Order: sequence, then C-alpha cells, then structure tokens
Amino acid sequence: MLNNQKDKFSLPDDVSYLNTSYMSPLLKAVEKAGIAALQTKNTPFAISPNDFFEPVETVKKTYAKLIDTTEYNRIACIPSVSYGIACVTNNITLQPGDEIIVIEDQFPSNYYSWKKLAETYNAVIKTIAKPKDGEQKAKRWNEAVLNAITDKTKVVAMCQVHWADGSLFNLMAIREKTNIYKALLIIDGTQSVGAFPFSVAKIQPDALICATYKWLLGPYAFGFAYFGAYFDNGSPIEESWVNRVDSEDFSGLTNYNDNYKAGANRYGMGESANFISVPMATQAINQILEWTPEAIQEYCYSISKEALNELEELGFTIEDDAHRAHHLIGVKIPDFIDLEALKKQFSERKIFVSFRGNYIRLSPHLYSVKADFTKLVQCIKALID
Ligand SMILES: Cc1ncc(COP(=O)(O)O)c(C=O)c1O
Repeated sequence: MLNNQKDKFSLPDDVSYLNTSYMSPLLKAVEKAGIAALQTKNTPFAISPNDFFEPVETVKKTYAKLIDTTEYNRIACIPSVSYGIACVTNNITLQPGDEIIVIEDQFPSNYYSWKKLAETYNAVIKTIAKPKDGEQKAKRWNEAVLNAITDKTKVVAMCQVHWADGSLFNLMAIREKTNIYKALLIIDGTQSVGAFPFSVAKIQPDALICATYKWLLGPYAFGFAYFGAYFDNGSPIEESWVNRVDSEDFSGLTNYNDNYKAGANRYGMGESANFISVPMATQAINQILEWTPEAIQEYCYSISKEALNELEELGFTIEDDAHRAHHLIGVKIPDFIDLEALKKQFSERKIFVSFRGNYIRLSPHLYSVKADFTKLVQCIKALID
C-alpha cells in the first residue's frame, strides 16, 4: 500500500486538510511546473507555434490514460464544468414530454443547462430523490435511478460520486439501462476522476466532463471533456481558430477552413494551449497515474476506517462501504450535535472539512494521515462529553 505523500505537498504540519472536494493543494512538482511555465512569457520569442499544439496533445494523451481510453482526440480542454455541459446541451434536441434524469442536489453546473434545455423543448427534468430514511440509502438511490429510466428518458445527466454526500453510483448498470432506451449518459466526473477509477472503455459515457482543480490536483479554470461518437458532428459553443484543420500553418490562418479537426477537437475552448495550466495538469495527472486511483482509494480507506467506526458509535451515519467512495465521505450529523460549536472546534484545531446541509463532507487524499481523523473524532467527543 502507498505511504502518505505529504512531503510532495506544501501543507502546514498543524493543518488537517480533509477538504480536497473543495479544492486540492498543489503538488510541489506542479507548482514548479506552473512557475516555470509562467516565466516562459518573459521570453515570448522562445514560444514556438508548436507550443500551441504539442503540449495540448500531451495533456490529452495523459488524461486519456487516466480515464482508460486510447482515443485522446475525443478529449477537449475546457475552462469549467458548466462550459462542458453547455457544449453537450447545445447539441441535444428534444420532443415535448421527453425526460432528462438528474439526481437530487446535483451540482449546479450540471443542472442549469439541463433546465434551460428542458424549458426550450417543453421537456421534463426528472429529479431522482435520495431515499430519506432507513439503511443503505445509496444502494436504494441507485435502484431508484435505474427504475426511473424508461422509454421517455432521453438523457441521464449525473455523477459517479455525489459531490455533497459521497454516494457512489453504479455507472455500468446505469449505462446498460440507458442503452436499452438509447438515452444519452452524461457524467460530471469532477468529484471522482483522479481519485476513483473511471473507465471510458467500460462505461462508454456519451460525455465525461471534469474540472482539474480538485481530484486531478491541477489548476483552477481548466478541465477536460470527453465526447463519444454522438457528438462527432456537433456544434461547438465558440469557434476557435485552433480547432480548424491546418491551424498549425500560422501564415495561412486566413485561408479560412470549414473543417474541424478530428474527434472532439471542435469543442476545445479558445486558447486551449494555456501555457500555464497545460503543463501543470500534465504533471499532476502523471503523478496520479503513478499512484493510481485504486491505491488512493485503498489509502483513504486505511486512514479513515477506524475513525468512521467510532463516529458511527457516537451516532453519526455513514453509508455502507460498498456504496460509497473512500476519498469523499458524507457523515450525517445527529440532531443532538451543536453544529456551530462543532464548526468552531474544527476551526480552532485547524481541521478543514466542508459542511453540506446536515452532512460533514470529509475528503482526504494522500497528504492526509490517520492522525487527522483521530483529531477530528477527539473534537467531536469533546463536544459530546
Ligand atoms: C460535482 C462538481 N462539478 C463541478 C464543479 C465545478 O463546476 P465549474 O467548473 O462549472 O465551476 C464542482 C465544484 O465544487 C463540483 O463539485
């Protein structure tokens, strides 16, 4: 099993950072790559036309390995999840009454565009609620998603791991069901890809959209969109010169070309060759490939398991292991806990987590250690005593 990798980051020793779902810190190597990249702008004469293309191809190839596809040309660089989802909804037409399935409390960047699309076509957003009571809520939530997919379903737009409570969705089963009805499957992988295995080859999503600043350990305002064959002839939301055939020929750019480059290249954002973000993302994903998402899961499980058992004994509720991820853990706070006092305790002890409704969201990474969880449990115990 991996040891903790704290030395590869610059987090202060007295900080327990359990909030990767909010934003990851940078790897030292990624910081270095970013600074070096920033400095290249001091010598613009050294930036060649090739630098607009080759590093982008490299980052796509690197990310393609992580999401288990050989088709790196199906990946476009995007600035945000909302942009990626807008590219998707821009290419879907519906009939009145058609259904778009989303899940409860989905992240807004994977909701508003769907709402707009539904309004445009008089279609219906069908929100699959999380079961409120009883055991194995995530398991039953999965079942509810599967049951909701019918011949009316045109799109299922969701995530792999729920951003607020860590519920894990069985995308293979959901894909199978969508295939029966020829519904599209659009995934926001921002809270899972990088820390949890994702295989495009196996799941075959129609689109997988992902920001890099969380589990890909990359910069803000950068991300990736994988598009399946459905989108091959679609319309991008902007027309970047780079996305056209022969854009490498800088002296012939005004020989306007009607043809887009292969695969998903038409969807790449303007200035995809971001000279700072691209090398940073490449460096970060290479490190993740070396560690592997499987090993990140195993490590996060090993440092959190004991503390989670203790929290359950104290009256907190945690999803069963089979239906949750280990890098993003939703811990339901019992009513008798004074939330404000808890937040104050955490802040004093420099424990960083997110509060989402009546859940504490714990999102460790390889820079976290068992002692961070022990400290958290001690804080809670002190409040109860
Ligand atoms: C599931 C999920 N998707 C997307 C985002 C970010 O969206 P955007 O890149 O549109 O700001 C977040 C941020 O918290 C998120 O948790």
